[in-house]
Amino acid sequence: MSRQKRTSVRKPVYLVDTTLREGEQTPGVSFTIDQKLEIARKLDEAGIDMIEAGHPAVAPDIEKAVRLIARQGFEAEIIGHCRAVKHDIEKAAECEVDRIAIFYGVSDLHLKYKHKVSREEALNIIAEHVSFAKSHGVKVRFTAEDASRADIDFLIQVVKTAYEAGADRVSLADTVGILTPFKAKTLFETVKKAVPGVELDIHAHNDLGMAVANSLAAFEGGASAIHVTVNGIGERCGIASLQEIAVALKVHYNIDTIDLKKIMELSKLVEKYTGIVLPPHAPVVGDNAFTHKAGVHVAGVLANPQTYEPYPPEMIGRTRDWVIDKYTGKKAVKARLERLGVQVSEEELEQIVRKIKERSGTRSWRDEDLLELVEEVTGRRVLLRPPEKLEALVWVKCESNIYTTAIARRIAAIPGVVEVMEVTGEYDIIVKIAVKDQQELNNVVETIREVKGVQSTHTQLVLKKM
Ligand code: COA
Ligand code: ZN
Repeated sequence: MSRQKRTSVRKPVYLVDTTLREGEQTPGVSFTIDQKLEIARKLDEAGIDMIEAGHPAVAPDIEKAVRLIARQGFEAEIIGHCRAVKHDIEKAAECEVDRIAIFYGVSDLHLKYKHKVSREEALNIIAEHVSFAKSHGVKVRFTAEDASRADIDFLIQVVKTAYEAGADRVSLADTVGILTPFKAKTLFETVKKAVPGVELDIHAHNDLGMAVANSLAAFEGGASAIHVTVNGIGERCGIASLQEIAVALKVHYNIDTIDLKKIMELSKLVEKYTGIVLPPHAPVVGDNAFTHKAGVHVAGVLANPQTYEPYPPEMIGRTRDWVIDKYTGKKAVKARLERLGVQVSEEELEQIVRKIKERSGTRSWRDEDLLELVEEVTGRRVLLRPPEKLEALVWVKCESNIYTTAIARRIAAIPGVVEVMEVTGEYDIIVKIAVKDQQELNNVVETIREVKGVQSTHTQLVLKKM
């Protein structure tokens, strides 16, 4: 049973995720069918409006993936991508997608060198294929490829033709990422005014790093759908990224799109399946997005995080932090020491900061190193604040007549046990325990010793973890 589609509700802007189509056009990237299904499911759970699942005519496994995704009953509209070719459209229709998207290059460059047709012929081809797709009982989007380099009067004719032939949405593609925000806004305003009624999508490539800015400008100019991929992957330099667009729509226009708390998980998943790891300074999802460094910044953030953060990390389920190195200041070090449960005098603090600056060179300071320095400066012994959890490893010897896996399973079910490993050597099982205190630890170890088949145990407390 297919549920009601999110696009049946009117929204200020829809997000069209094309990680599985445009994203798979990234050099070096090929998803398995299972990976595609998992990504699509996570996108749907996050609340995406449309998923461009693939171009079924390209390869059998793409067709299979599109068909599978279309059958899941997702709330997202599922789109099949096609050339203006009947065979492509038939294949997409067979996959039972909700919407068929037909693309056709509309700049003179594309007409002359790719399609080798006149403008007149192009209009006929567009009308014919949009109607053909429409006759399959699906929604139709027409994508004007290279729209940003097309003659504006011809582009308006194209949009009118596609709309009148049955495409309720027309995507204007900035195929080579050549727009500026001002041009993008003007383009969308012009087309929207010339063809009232049509809903416009922006598909913005990132060749000059402008994809997100151009997408937002197009939205301001009247676009009601923005194409994105997780992590911004895609042909060449990719397109606007889902995480940046979703957060920017919230920050700039207070528009809710997907569940922003799901962004990190989606980004990590796509990093894993593409093997393309984002740099630490990547917007929104990069490791450093909420990690401050310079003393002046950290002091500001400690007084009020808004001084150096455009939006709170909690909005996307993240937390803030700061690093200590030669750029540090007293307030940063003091706050870090307080977090570690260590009090120092003003004089000691000054000395600690001076030594950090003298000795940092190219490194930054881990908490353990900082505490060693505190001991050196103050002459007092400082201990790491007792950990929130007490961790222990229990080495278990089993009786030889009982199946080790059966014992391991029973141990794994004991509350407080976090991991159980069957191992070779003198002991048979290693158990990892995490508990509140010593008393609870004793109880867990006692319970392990009572498990049938456990001959003896040997317990080690974890003191420090790197
Ligand atoms: N509508 C109709 N025809 C189009 C088109 C469009 N939007 N865009 C390109 N074409 C035509 C070209 O004119 C050319 O036709 P020709 O062979 O008659 O000259 C052909 O498609 C592209 O050349 P080629 O790739 O050599 O053709 P092919 O028949 O071997 O393969 C695909 C076609 C689509 C199956 C293959 O290119 C493919 O797998 N592509 C991946 C998907 C893709 O390119 N997507 C682009 C998304 S923007
Ligand atoms: Zn593209």
